[in-house]
Amino acid sequence: MAASPRAFILRHTRLRPVPGLEEVRLHLADEVLPLWHAVQAETGDADAPLPYWAFAWAGGLAIGRYLRGHPEVVAGRRVFDLASGSGLCAVAAMRAGAAAVTCADIDPFAAAAIEANARASGHRAAVILRDVLDDELPDVDVVLAGDCWYDAGLAERVLPWLHRAQDRGIDVLVGDPGRRYLPTDELVELASYEVRTTTELEDLELKQGNVYALRPAGARRIHARGPVPETASGDRRDGWREG
Ligand SMILES: C[S@@+](CC[C@H](N)C(=O)[O-])C[C@H]1O[C@@H](n2cnc3c(N)ncnc32)[C@H](O)[C@@H]1O
Repeated sequence: MAASPRAFILRHTRLRPVPGLEEVRLHLADEVLPLWHAVQAETGDADAPLPYWAFAWAGGLAIGRYLRGHPEVVAGRRVFDLASGSGLCAVAAMRAGAAAVTCADIDPFAAAAIEANARASGHRAAVILRDVLDDELPDVDVVLAGDCWYDAGLAERVLPWLHRAQDRGIDVLVGDPGRRYLPTDELVELASYEVRTTTELEDLELKQGNVYALRPAGARRIHARGPVPETASGDRRDGWREG
């Protein structure tokens, strides 16, 4: 890697208000493919992940809107932002008065973006740069899971982890625009928002972003660790356009 991830992010993004959530400012990019190619060149890795961290995803936007209207969900509490990306949910939680926020992502650029974005809001976030889904649960009060259901492998592992968190007494909020692997049977909708994203990522600029809680343990459809059932994908559309 030629430059630090932080320097790379500052060079390839612009700090700006998030549409519909203007109080949150993030380092965002306009176009996904040129940035992805720049990441590939920077890392020398043709299989480098897409720069998820340079965009505010519809699921995270929905959680941000929800926390704006319901700050008591996180105020004074310890929050964990799973699959944090840009840190959108984390920054929204900080602004809503969270006592402490920890973020987890597997992408080193995401870790740097989260730090830069938290700092731009005058906050600090602890960042765990690894896959935590087989780890012990964090000692927190609330887990935020914004836009985690776009990938079958991730979806299969996120739900059991969130169930474990719920069983431990941790509040769980899921934000999602109806991605292919969203296990709607396991969720209870709390709110729905029209969120503005970008056709760089989605089929439409305006998406319906929903916020969910998990079904209570006694009302779960899935009780054992296992794959998300085929029926969970239903006829929902996956917003990601292959480039
Ligand atoms: C679609 S983005 C969502 C980002 C953010 N939550 C939002 O809503 O804007 C998904 C993020 O999940 C991260 N991710 C993928 N697999 C992961 C894993 N096993 N553990 C933690 N993060 C993961 C990716 O690196 C990416 O940043």
